[in-house]
Amino acid sequence: MQLKNILCMGAGYVGGSTMAVIADKCPHLRIHVADINLDRIAQWNSERLPVYEPGLDDVVRRTRGRNLFFGELSPQVIAEADVIFVSVNTPTKTYGQGAGMAPDLQYWELSAREILAHATGETIVVEKSTVPVRTAEAIARILNTGNDERRFYILSNPEFLAEGTAMHDLEEPDRVLIGAEPTPEGQRAAEVLAEVYSHWVPRERILLTSVWSSELSKLVANAMLAQRVSSINAITALCENTGADVREISRAVGMDPRIGPRFLEAGVGFGGSCFRKDILNLAYLCEQFGLSQEGQYWKSVVDMNDRQISRFVRAVVESQFNTVAGKKLALLGFAFKPHTNDTRDSPAIRIATQLLAERAHLVISDPQALDNARQDLAGLEGEVAFEADPYRAVEGAHAAILITHWPEYIDLDYRKIYSVMVRPSFIFDGRSCLDHPALFELGFNVYPIGSPPLVHD
Ligand code: UDX
Ligand code: UDX
Repeated sequence: MQLKNILCMGAGYVGGSTMAVIADKCPHLRIHVADINLDRIAQWNSERLPVYEPGLDDVVRRTRGRNLFFGELSPQVIAEADVIFVSVNTPTKTYGQGAGMAPDLQYWELSAREILAHATGETIVVEKSTVPVRTAEAIARILNTGNDERRFYILSNPEFLAEGTAMHDLEEPDRVLIGAEPTPEGQRAAEVLAEVYSHWVPRERILLTSVWSSELSKLVANAMLAQRVSSINAITALCENTGADVREISRAVGMDPRIGPRFLEAGVGFGGSCFRKDILNLAYLCEQFGLSQEGQYWKSVVDMNDRQISRFVRAVVESQFNTVAGKKLALLGFAFKPHTNDTRDSPAIRIATQLLAERAHLVISDPQALDNARQDLAGLEGEVAFEADPYRAVEGAHAAILITHWPEYIDLDYRKIYSVMVRPSFIFDGRSCLDHPALFELGFNVYPIGSPPLVHD
């Protein structure tokens, strides 16, 4: 197959960034990115992209209109495409069988039916969304219902990019995984995709596996990363009670090369669009195969995360003489991690919701995520204000609660902050990233995660 045209269905975070990098590295290919949400397409075509990702603007500016196009999904772009990436969302089901656990594949199926309606000749369909194992098989069944000369080849090519470092992860990936059918045609299709990546990824980093191994690897990778976070978080309460410092423990443990230093930062827990969804997905898969103990094992990674959040909220309320009703509390950070405006499944949402239920008055601050925060909290009862400037956010607050460790929060002038807060003043360091003795010296009562609180008499 002579590859010329690529189509990506789903101009989300993953689809948009991935296609921008492919367009940049492969100027000979024409890449079309389509979405049912036309506002999103308009944003991709504007000066303000719909996702904030360091480095993305430059790549889009270089490629947009040259060989990268954002537009409507039309029969023509489907017909012309040699390779179609499907990167539509697969949220956790909220209804029917598997509600709260299984992924909702309705968008995926709709996309497959669109492809079936308009594709011509030979088409390679690539799963980019995270999907349960054996989705490719289901998609193949839909696509191969046509009694005609057309041919569809399904590949799994999961994304391992992390927000905030997505451009680096795409440009220098640890590995590119391509799952294909073990038939000669399947292998040929895998080779077409491998050739695209080989324009900038060394061949030894392009792994060819079976479709199912590829689909499952993505779930396992995310489950294991999240498991490390839950494992270190499961030590924090013990540290707070015994006087150990979890940061020292992470350092000591991480120096063992068999364990390694990354993903051992304790805090209020993980968020983001993938971890919770993928673990629940994995747990559901286990259960479907009668492996309830295995399912429970993975589910406990999510349970630990939920517990960490409620434990944090409980510490806030208890420290405020057991009531936060009517008290102003400033939340520093709302994004699920620094360097992104993404708030999907951010611990901040649960923390804010639980504090509002306690009738606290919240002021939410974040350098990038306030628009999303507004949407996330819309409709909740209670008093919430939004203030980009952290110094103004803490004015008259009883407590400053750090949730996202944006570098600018580490460098704030805490003397100035202390001077405008209500006495006694409290700081909750939900990421244990601040200088606790220095804050205590300034007069704050300091509540870190993973080491005992520093409280004035
Ligand atoms: C998505 C998936 O959520 C994730 O599971 C996977 O690993 C990668 O792709 P992301 O790009 O972050 O991640 O999702 P999102 O920003 O929600 O983008 C999905 C896009 O698909 C949205 O813009 C949505 O409008 C679009 N879409 C959805 C379609 O174009 N067609 C549909 O039928 C449904
Ligand atoms: C993750 C995976 O890393 C990526 O490979 C996959 O493709 C998508 O999901 P992402 O969600 O962007 O990427 O963020 P990541 O950097 O993995 O962080 C996830 C969450 O874990 C964040 O809320 C982060 O704050 C938290 N985390 C991470 C910790 O609490 N401690 C750590 O040590 C590391």
